[in-house]
Amino acid sequence: MGDFIGKYCIVTYGCQMNLHESEKLAGILEGFGYRKTDCENDADIVVFNTCCIRENAEKKAEGNIGALKKLKRDKKNMIIAVGGCMTQQKGYADKLVREFPFIDIVFGTHNLENFAEFLLEKTESKKHVVSVSEKEGAIVEGTPKSRSSFPNGWVNITYGCNNFCTYCIVPYVRGRERSREPEAIIKECEELISAGYKEITLLGQNVNSYGQDLKNVDFAELIKRVSALKGDFRLRFMTNHPKDLNENLVKAIAESDKTTRSIHLPVQAGSDRILKLMNRHYTRAEYLDKIGLLRKYMPDIAITTDIMVGFPTESDEDFCDTMALVKEVGFAGAFTFIYSPRSGTPAAKMSGQITEDVAKDRIMKLIDLQNGINRSQSSGYVGKEIEILCEGFDEKKNKFLGRDTYGRMAYFNGDDLIGKFVNVKITEAGGISLYGELVSVKD
Ligand code: SAH
Ligand code: SF4
Ligand code: F3S
Repeated sequence: MGDFIGKYCIVTYGCQMNLHESEKLAGILEGFGYRKTDCENDADIVVFNTCCIRENAEKKAEGNIGALKKLKRDKKNMIIAVGGCMTQQKGYADKLVREFPFIDIVFGTHNLENFAEFLLEKTESKKHVVSVSEKEGAIVEGTPKSRSSFPNGWVNITYGCNNFCTYCIVPYVRGRERSREPEAIIKECEELISAGYKEITLLGQNVNSYGQDLKNVDFAELIKRVSALKGDFRLRFMTNHPKDLNENLVKAIAESDKTTRSIHLPVQAGSDRILKLMNRHYTRAEYLDKIGLLRKYMPDIAITTDIMVGFPTESDEDFCDTMALVKEVGFAGAFTFIYSPRSGTPAAKMSGQITEDVAKDRIMKLIDLQNGINRSQSSGYVGKEIEILCEGFDEKKNKFLGRDTYGRMAYFNGDDLIGKFVNVKITEAGGISLYGELVSVKD
């Protein structure tokens, strides 16, 4: 860490990948001599790490950036930087500084590792520093990280995405898929384990296609290599793409004693017509086959998913197919979204956009259905004793929290438990979360 020069605050939007990217920004800032604060008013530098997956993610970030105008007027030396997926959109960086001229630095997703340079440039000049490179470069190793997710350590395995689902902005703002060398991944995992981290989450937009640009390694092989590391830790990974989840990989997951018994397998829709329009490269039947494959090797596996409603031309019948699929699979959890047109993606230009009222009505029905499934799965837990990795403390509930191998969250009382495996007897189920009593703590 450098000598103290001020305080930083990072505001992150979007996915796990972005949260992890913020850990890199924090590492760079701490190297400079900044120390963390969670309060923007207290900060000498505020960095917004943005997301543009849906319109509301953008609106939220823009609202929060705009709200700093007054603070910046009172604190002239404060630095405001904006980076991430939002700024990487075509023409967006210029629009941003036009709309919010008080922003000091705008950077993109491809040059986050150079943030230190932008900061130096800014301290030497009064002008905005706007640096968004259009093309992704080679993977940069060795960026310092200040992790804030103990006992869970995030590890990038791929960057970018090649899938071009027709609704999705990610391939345009994160570039083509690049896989990290397995040696670099293993080294980072080893460092995390020796630092006491108890859960490793491998990150990529589609982890199942890991290694397609490398020699002699694929995701199944990577799972085997990480699982062979010594230590008491859990291995998770996200996100999986149904088209690339094959039997060899499912076997590798099942044979590992480190992987959790939960998997996130976004389905997006239950109608073949919509799946085709989305360019997902699988049919409803093929998705169900993948579920069958997972359950063949791991009968108890908990499967979670992402589902979108209101994709252009989605009819009542298409939506019924989605509802029926949700019932048939019995997901252990689902993130549900209303389709949001993203400029530059093929779906935004499709005719047959769905009205907001229809989409809202559909998502409510879907949420109701999934809530019912969550409740019935949770109630099955009552009276059982489960092993939980304690991940944190919930100030509001005044309880520790953590998840079991199926990803189910539980709350319990105790003392100094973060980063420990504990046994908890479940006494109450509330929606998706469980409540219980601490039985024992593993050494
Ligand atoms: N790479 C991951 C997901 C990344 S985005 C995957 O392929 O599964 C996370 C989720 O956001 C997606 O699964 C999708 O359900 C949702 N999403 C993506 N683009 C969207 C859009 N334009 N409108 C609404 N939801 C969207
Ligand atoms: Fe987007 Fe599809 Fe890539 Fe996921 S796989 S990031 S949904 S384009
Ligand atoms: Fe993630 Fe949002 Fe970018 S979901 S990859 S931060 S657009």
